[in-house]
Parts: sequence; C-alpha cells; structure tokens
Amino acid sequence: MKRRTFLASGPAAGALSLFGPAAWAVSRKETADVVVIGSGGTGLTAGLTAQADGAKVIVLEKMPITGGNTQLAAGGMNAADTRFQAQRKIADSWRTMYDDTMKGGKNINDPALVEVLAKNSAASVDWLSSIGADMSGVGRMAGASEDRTHRPAAGDAVGHNIVHAMRQTAIQRKLDVRTNSRVIKIFRNRAGRVTGVLVQNKFGEVYSIEAPVVILASGGFSADLARVAQYQPSYAGFSSTNQPGATGDGLDLGAEVGGQLRDMQHIQIHPTQAAGSKILITEAVRGNGAILVNSQGKRFVNELTTRDAASAAILAQPGGTAYLILDQDIRKSLKQIEGYYHLELVKEGNTPEDLARTLGMDPATFKATLDTYNSAQAAKKDAEFGRPDMPRPVKTGPFIAIGVRPGVHYTMGGLAINTKAQVLDKDGKPIPGLYAGGEVTGGVHGANRLGGNSISETITFGRIAGAEAAKEARAARATSVKKA
Ligand code: FAD
Ligand code: FUM
Repeated sequence: MKRRTFLASGPAAGALSLFGPAAWAVSRKETADVVVIGSGGTGLTAGLTAQADGAKVIVLEKMPITGGNTQLAAGGMNAADTRFQAQRKIADSWRTMYDDTMKGGKNINDPALVEVLAKNSAASVDWLSSIGADMSGVGRMAGASEDRTHRPAAGDAVGHNIVHAMRQTAIQRKLDVRTNSRVIKIFRNRAGRVTGVLVQNKFGEVYSIEAPVVILASGGFSADLARVAQYQPSYAGFSSTNQPGATGDGLDLGAEVGGQLRDMQHIQIHPTQAAGSKILITEAVRGNGAILVNSQGKRFVNELTTRDAASAAILAQPGGTAYLILDQDIRKSLKQIEGYYHLELVKEGNTPEDLARTLGMDPATFKATLDTYNSAQAAKKDAEFGRPDMPRPVKTGPFIAIGVRPGVHYTMGGLAINTKAQVLDKDGKPIPGLYAGGEVTGGVHGANRLGGNSISETITFGRIAGAEAAKEARAARATSVKKA
C-alpha cells in the first residue's frame, strides 16, 4: 500500500492546531491514553508509571536511542531522608534540601515545586531501587549542606545505571517506546483540551496519535547554542556538555498550545568541562576532594560553591581555564575517574613538583598550594576560601591534573507547571490534558540548579506526571463511554 506522507513543513505552525488531526494529511491515525514526548529520565519514569496505573502509553523519542541527557548524568541524584543516608548516620531532612535548593536558586524558585522535589526525593530513590538501579552510594555535590548525592556504590555514573534499569523494565513490561519518532505538533481542540500529537518518523512519514493526555518530557535546550545565545548573549561561543537532541523542541510545542514559559534567561554553565572537548568532568570529583588551581598553580575559589560562582571564578582566571587537581585516594573513591584516563584527559606527575613542571607552573608555588590545602583539610578549616567540606587531602602520588573550562550545561527555564505537573497557560491555569516534567519545565531550580537536583526532579515529577496522566486518561475514557 502506498503511504501518503506529509512533511513537517506543512501548514504554518499553530495555524490549524485548534481543528485537530483531521485537518492534516496524515498517513495513519493511532490512539493511546497517554503520549509521552521524550525518553530520558522523566519520559521513561512517566511512561512506566502511567502504564503501571493501567494506561495505554506510547513513548516517542526523536533520537535513534533512548536516554536523552539522563543517560549522560554523572555525579548523582540528590535525596534527603533516605535509607542509604540513615545507614551512614547522615542527619539530613527534606527541609534542609529545600533550603539548599532555594538558596542555590537565588530564591526565585517556585517554593511549592521545591517542596515537592525535596519531600518526594527519598521515595524516588526507592522507586529507582525497585526497578533495579543501584543508588546505594552517597556523596556530596556543590551547594549541599549534607551528603545527599546518591549514585551507584562504586562511584559509577548515575545516568547509565538508571537508564539501563528503566530500559530493562520497559522491555519486560512491553512499554511501547519508539525511537526516531519526532513529535512535531501537539493538538488542542476548540474547548482547549489537548487531543494528541503529530509524529514524524525517520522515513519522513507523518502520522497522528489521538490521546486525551500528553506529557512533555523532552528536556532542555543546551545543545542549541544559537537559542542559548539568544537568551544569554554572553554565552555565545561556549561549547555544550549535552547530547545533540537537547534542542528545546518541547518549549515550542508547549508554547504553541498556550503554555507559559518562565525563567528562560537562566542558563547554567558547568564549571568543569574538559578543556578542548565536550566531556563533562563530574562535580563529584570536587565533592570527593579535588581542588581547583589556575595556570599559576594557585587556588582561587571554594570548590564547593554553587556552579554559577565557580564558573565565574574560573572565567576570571588567566585564559578562562583551570586545572582540577587530585590524587590517587580521590581517584580510588570514584570509578568515573578511570573514564577520564581512557579518554586521555589526565596528566600525571609523581610529585607535586613533577606535575607542576608538566603543566608549566612554578613547582614551588604549586607545592605550597597543596601544603596549605592539606593543612586546612587536617584542621577541618579552609581559612582561605571557606570550603565547607574537605573529605580527603591531596597527598598521595602520582598527582593528577585535568584541564577544565566552563561549558553550557543546563537550562533552568521552561514551561510553567503546578505541583501536579500540569502545564499552565499564560493566566496560570492548567491546560487540560497537558503535563510536563524535567528539564523542559521551569521553576524548580530558580536562577541556578544545584548539582544532583535534576535527576531527582526527573524521577519525582516523572512519577507525578505519569500518575496524574493515567488518572486523567481514565476520567476521559469514562466520559466518552458515558457520552456513547
Ligand atoms: P532528557 O533526559 O534530556 O530527555 C529528553 C528526551 O526528549 C531526549 O532523549 C530528546 O532527544 C527527546 N526529545 C526532544 N525533543 C523531542 C521531540 N520533538 N520528539 C521526541 N523526542 C524528543 N543532573 C543531575 O541531577 N545529576 C547528574 O549527575 C547530572 N549529570 C549530568 C551530566 C551531563 C554530561 C549532562 C549533559 C547533564 C547532567 N545532569 C545531571 C543533568 C540531567 O542529566 C538532565 O537535566 C536530565 O537528565 C534531563 O532529563 P529529562 O528527562 O528532562 O530530559
Ligand atoms: O557534575 C556533574 O556530575 C553534573 C551534575 C549535574 O548536572 O547535576
């Protein structure tokens, strides 16, 4: 049978959206209870949750593989009051996580969303464990006042671990997940209710899926450097740590059906992208003890300050770059560091002086920097920069350096949502049938996100969106049965 195809460049964006799929020349029409746009942490969590609650779900992913940026997540996931913290006698609370998150976000975060994030974080860790992820390691990332960053026990990257668990669970439960499937439009009827999506597959075929509920889980826009520069001209010329699909499609799709965008100018540059590459050096390296020095071999910042402050401090150094300095004990504490060796991002010296000579620094200055830091670490007081946590000294050779510079990493702004993950319109009212979670939304992180809080957000708001979507789909089904 010859398929009729209709390319995305058809009717002008938004022109026909109120009339529903019938106005489009689509090759076929499918139906579902819930359509999820994006297959990162938010999308797979929402899809699995809605399916477990009885909904017929279709997850659509435009890239050839699932996982999005979530798959790249490195340092871990923040959560408070967890059993893994209790095992280590870490006295944390949702309130402390809330306070840290608000402070990190410069208090422009939506307090109700932050409360949901912090209060549900332990349950989200349990949910991940229940599908087979290993969240039993606990460390710290910048801006946190307690150890609350959960990751696999050996210190492997968190993203691969959780996405693997989600993919396996999706396969076991026969969740309908489609790659190479780009959503190009969300439909809304005359009454203002979302009614489905238009999808384009890798052959260019366009088809529609009719559904009473759509969840936007399509991530941020840090890989669209032109869009980044439009909101933050000072970031023109930076490179990105993100996967190429992080282009912010969901912002356009959501805005086209009336979604309100907030905080779009707040874009995060991560302090430690490996210089001359797109590889992120996880903040956990600093959390586990590494220090930052400039090209003169001198420390210049509290390494555990928030990302905006750490990035600004690096950019103020000669050449706008710095070196992460660590030793063999820090290396042993975090398996991810082996990956930086494989990628040949690491320089070594048997003694501090050897390493300094390799880096072109004055050996005596660099040695003095390490001696001063190690004395501060032993005394548990960093008089120079006020670093709050110094878990290890830097004293066991061979000594290690990784050259770093800030890179565009995370977009705090996005679609406004409420605590049920419903997308809000310009008047602050929920758009019937439209939900969103994760990096496509704005409000949780305010002006600056704390490391580890995004994965937490994806699981918590993915679960909420999935459960609410299944509930709304059930109600829509009941209404249509009644009408019939
Ligand atoms: P994503 O995981 O990015 O998934 C969105 C998906 O939607 C993508 O697969 C995308 O291709 C797809 N999509 C987009 N548009 C469409 C469309 N039109 N149709 C269909 N599909 C579409 N955060 C932490 O908390 N801890 C960490 O340790 C951490 N480490 C990180 C390391 C790196 C290198 C990076 C880049 C980010 C890291 N982050 C971390 C941030 C975190 O990984 C992301 O913010 C988070 O995973 C976003 O999840 P998401 O589900 O919202 O989006
Ligand atoms: O540095 C990192 O591991 C990144 C963490 C994050 O973006 O939260």
